[in-house]
Amino acid sequence: MATVCKQVVCRKAVQEDVEPLYEMIQGYAQQGIMLPRSRAVLERQLDLFVVAEVDGKPVGCGSLCRLGADLVEIRSLGISDGYKGLGIGSKIVKLLIEEAKRQDIPKIMALTYEVAFFEKNGFTVVNKEIFPEKVWTDCVNCSKQHACDEIAVLKMLK
Ligand SMILES: CC(C)(COP(=O)(O)OP(=O)(O)OC[C@H]1O[C@@H](n2cnc3c(N)ncnc32)[C@H](O)[C@@H]1OP(=O)(O)O)[C@@H](O)C(=O)NCCC(=O)NCCS
Repeated sequence: MATVCKQVVCRKAVQEDVEPLYEMIQGYAQQGIMLPRSRAVLERQLDLFVVAEVDGKPVGCGSLCRLGADLVEIRSLGISDGYKGLGIGSKIVKLLIEEAKRQDIPKIMALTYEVAFFEKNGFTVVNKEIFPEKVWTDCVNCSKQHACDEIAVLKMLK
């Protein structure tokens, strides 16, 4: 496990990542645990994404979406099967947190089914009603918007 983790490189996404990112996100979207992102959206929002690669192969991704002056959301966080439980998800989250801090944003949140993972990364469960910004961006386009069973987690960065 440690050997694999040493080979992990986390970096900003580049044009060549569009297809692997699309495939990864689409796979999770089909399982109902992530919102789909079209290739066009990925191309447009590429600078919001980070990619984890092992031996040059993308095996994980995550993105940071600005929801307001003081709030960003972690979106499209996923690790390929066979690479889970190796610390790669945490590595991506740390990088996204660093980016939020660099932008001087005090709050970072996510909507997730993976509460234990986020708690291990310093997030706490909160009531999702405290994020009206979120509801008026992504949620309006989500088929589950009236029956959302995802859990909101938040980490204060200041
Ligand atoms: C959730 C996910 C991103 C976690 O990434 P990962 O690389 O497997 O997680 P890590 O190896 O960094 O785990 C960090 C810690 O969280 C724990 N953890 C991870 N997933 C967990 C789970 N499902 N249940 C309980 N604990 C979990 C790990 O055991 C580890 O604990 P440790 O530090 O005590 O060893 C990954 O499992 C995934 O891609 N899931 C499917 C997509 C998804 O649900 N994404 C979240 C959308 S918000």
